[in-house]
Amino acid sequence: MELKDNTVYDCSVIDVSKIHNEAGNITVVENGENIPFDVKRIYYLYDIPGGEVRGGHAHYELEQFIIAASGSFDVVLDDGKNKKRVSLNRPNLALHIVPGLWRELDNFSSGSISMVLASHTYDESDYIRDYKNFLDCKK
Ligand code: TYD
Repeated sequence: MELKDNTVYDCSVIDVSKIHNEAGNITVVENGENIPFDVKRIYYLYDIPGGEVRGGHAHYELEQFIIAASGSFDVVLDDGKNKKRVSLNRPNLALHIVPGLWRELDNFSSGSISMVLASHTYDESDYIRDYKNFLDCKK
């Protein structure tokens, strides 16, 4: 399978809706409205021990929205040539990650929750988990 030649500059932080209310806010992500792909799967990381690093892989096809549903963390994007560190710390901000990029998540605050909206169901064959293999595929 071909790894897409996207770069870190194809990823952006999108300010999704926030419905403000004195009793608290609501953020809505809706297929066909404010997300550039249809969501097939949602998962979230939580109870992450201090200092832990997650991710450490690339995807052939999968697109994702990553949201700090609670607390904060960083996402380090890597296209084999450029790296970009993105800090997420608000539930109305979503990092859109296009396919073909290496990513790592670190700097998790205590109690943080990383919510991921994904364009496909889980498929291990969509992953590259070896960094050297990733670099070879990006050449
Ligand atoms: P992994 O992709 O290694 O986590 P991360 O990249 O966030 O550090 O996934 C951890 C485990 O969970 C691994 O055994 C695969 C499994 N998993 C599923 O079964 N379904 C899923 O949708 C995801 C994201 C992971």
